[in-house]
Amino acid sequence: MTRRFYVTTPIYYVNGAPHIGHAYTSIAADVMARFHRLAGHDVFFLTGTDEHGQKVEQAAQAAGVEPQAFVDRIAADFRDMADSMAISYDDFIRTTEPRHVTGAQALWERVAQNDAIYLGAYEGWYALRDECFYGEDELTTGPDGQKLAPTGAPVEWVKEPSYFFRLSAFQDRLLELYEQCPEFLGPHGARNEIISFVRQGLRDLSISRTSFKWGIPVPGDEAHVMYVWFDALANYLSALGFPDMDGARAAYWPADLHLVGKDIARFHAVYWPAFLMAAGIDVPSRIFANGWWTVEGQKMSKSIGNVIDPRDLVREFGLDAVRFFLLREVPFGGDSDLSRKALITRNNVELANDLGNLAQRTLSLVAKNCEAMILRGVSQRLRISSFSHRWRCCPSLWPRNWNAVP
Ligand code: ME8
Ligand code: MG
Repeated sequence: MTRRFYVTTPIYYVNGAPHIGHAYTSIAADVMARFHRLAGHDVFFLTGTDEHGQKVEQAAQAAGVEPQAFVDRIAADFRDMADSMAISYDDFIRTTEPRHVTGAQALWERVAQNDAIYLGAYEGWYALRDECFYGEDELTTGPDGQKLAPTGAPVEWVKEPSYFFRLSAFQDRLLELYEQCPEFLGPHGARNEIISFVRQGLRDLSISRTSFKWGIPVPGDEAHVMYVWFDALANYLSALGFPDMDGARAAYWPADLHLVGKDIARFHAVYWPAFLMAAGIDVPSRIFANGWWTVEGQKMSKSIGNVIDPRDLVREFGLDAVRFFLLREVPFGGDSDLSRKALITRNNVELANDLGNLAQRTLSLVAKNCEAMILRGVSQRLRISSFSHRWRCCPSLWPRNWNAVP
């Protein structure tokens, strides 16, 4: 039987335009998907957009547009980014689609049926930027006395009725999972961090909000919308047609690989398997957290104005040069810095001089002396691997501006 391989990217928030950080995780996932297709596996590659929650609602308000119109526009931009970067996704899921709303509500119902959800009241700290609840013990105080999350995001005190997920009941089963399946979470640094977070003790998790409307209604209690992370994580199942697990796509579950940034390892390696255990559904095989990109030594931020649109880099340097640089510059899982100088050097020295010259010399010898036999073979293979998929944009076989990077 053909091996199946189900790989996902995070679904990106549509509160702002796509940037090079989003492109990075998607390119890494794309490389995995292409590799497994070449190996003859039956691949399903999912990406998409995370469109609910207070953060997105506020971004729409700031733009003076209705939330749905706002998310339609930004989701289209994310899809364009994926297409421009030759991301060979099989499906692009949006959390405002009816199929996702159905899937997320069905997951909620399963978890509730197994008695893992109860109604209470939440009182505590919330960081809107991270869409994350934090414990008092995790916070620091900023220079102006503002309480800050470990990520540096400002937190606010939230007090409202809320449904809770019995996360505390899953502590032992989670630790057992990390223990018995060491490959469940990588790289090592992320794994150690998560294990010590879980060992410190898990509090039940608030999974609904009543103070705003832009979310999926909680089944049976329309005064609540789902916490955006419960909603978002469900995308990996709803894209497979969940709750219909007899459909054609259901066989891809459990996912082989959720690629995520290290900022969201906790949601994927703690909350997600706990929701699934509560629902009686298999957990994914592997979660891998990629490192963080800074730009010319600085964190990308709208206020600094150094947010890089990957499509601008592609226009300047060519698609393959950008993809090669991002994956070559740093061992996967580590942090790195994007600078023009580094991009140009990598491509001139390695892609053009080393690899380019090697290919150029070998292939011209073969062409001259071997009746181009291997060349024909190679180009056929390349054609098969790069052009047989139905994607509109495939990376060109060679850097576009051969030797011409300044
Ligand atoms: O967290 N360096 O969405 P998001 C490397 N909607 N990777 C980066 C990066 C950077 N500077 N910036 C972003 C969310 N990323 C949720 C996910 S999944 C069920 C829900 C990448 O728009 C990285 O993969 O904030 C990170 O995890 C993701 O973008 C966060 O995207
Ligand atoms: Mg983020």
